[in-house]
Amino acid sequence: MMLTLTAAQCREVRMPWSALIANKAEEFWVKARGRRIKGQGMIGAPAARVREGFDSLRWEDFGHYNLPQAWVERRQIPVVLNGRVPVVGAVVLDLGCGPGTSTEVLCHYADPSWSITGFDLTPHLIEVARSRVFRNREGRPISPRFECQDISEPLVVGGVAVAGGSVDLAISGGVVGLYLSPGQAQRLAAELARVVKPGAFAAIDAGPSVSVERLRAIMEGAGFEQVGIAKSFVIEPRPKLVFERRGPVH
Ligand SMILES: C[S@@+](CC[C@H](N)C(=O)[O-])C[C@H]1O[C@@H](n2cnc3c(N)ncnc32)[C@H](O)[C@@H]1O
Repeated sequence: MMLTLTAAQCREVRMPWSALIANKAEEFWVKARGRRIKGQGMIGAPAARVREGFDSLRWEDFGHYNLPQAWVERRQIPVVLNGRVPVVGAVVLDLGCGPGTSTEVLCHYADPSWSITGFDLTPHLIEVARSRVFRNREGRPISPRFECQDISEPLVVGGVAVAGGSVDLAISGGVVGLYLSPGQAQRLAAELARVVKPGAFAAIDAGPSVSVERLRAIMEGAGFEQVGIAKSFVIEPRPKLVFERRGPVH
C-alpha cells in the first residue's frame, strides 16, 4: 500500500510566507548596503568553492542562508511523497540533507519501519544532523542515518555500497540545481539508475547550475522517465522533477 496524504496533511509542515518575506527583505537590505550575505557566491561555483563555502558557513548562518530552501522543501516534499512511497518499509535517500532540514520533513511522514539515509558533503552539518531527534506526525521516533559524502560519488552507507535496486525514493532539494555541475549530475544519475528500484522514484531539483531541460535529459539518458514536477508556488525557480526508474517491476 502506498502512502497517500490529504491536502491538509501536506500543509502540516509548511512555513509561513512571513518567514520567507522577512528573510528576503533582510537579504535585500544587506545587499543594498553593498555588503554580502553569509554564504553568497556558492550557487553555480566550482565544487571546491562550494565545499569550502559550506565548510566555513557557521551553523547559525546556515539557518538564515537555507531558510528559503527549507520553505520550499516543506511544500515540495509532501507532494513528492504522496502516492509514491510504501506506507511500510520504504527505503529513502535524502541527497544533500544539510543538518537534517529536509530529512525532518521526510521523517514527519515516515513510519518507524522506514530506512532513511541523509547524505551531505559538509562534516559539521552531518554532525548536527546526527545529534538531532526526529519524530513522525504521530510523535513516534524515527531514526535516520547520516553519511558524510559527495553525492556525485558512489553512495555508501556504513561502509557498504547502497544495494542495487533497493531504493523506493531518492530525493534531493537545493543541491543539484544549485551546486552540482552537469557532469556531477550525470554521475549522480548513473548511481541512481543503479540503486533505485524499477518503478520507483527519484525527485531532483533543477536550478541555475542544472536547468530543467538539462536535468531531464541527464535523467532520461540514465533510464528514468519524468512523471511529475513539485513546485512550492506558481513561480518556482527550483522545481523538483520527479522521475520514475524504467525497467521491469518485480
Ligand atoms: C541549500 S542546502 C539544502 C539542505 C537540505 N536539503 C534542505 O533542503 O534544507 C545544500 C546542502 O547541499 C550540500 N551539498 C552541496 N554540494 C554537495 C555535494 N556535491 N554532495 C553532497 N552534498 C552537497 C551542502 O553541504 C548543503 O548542506
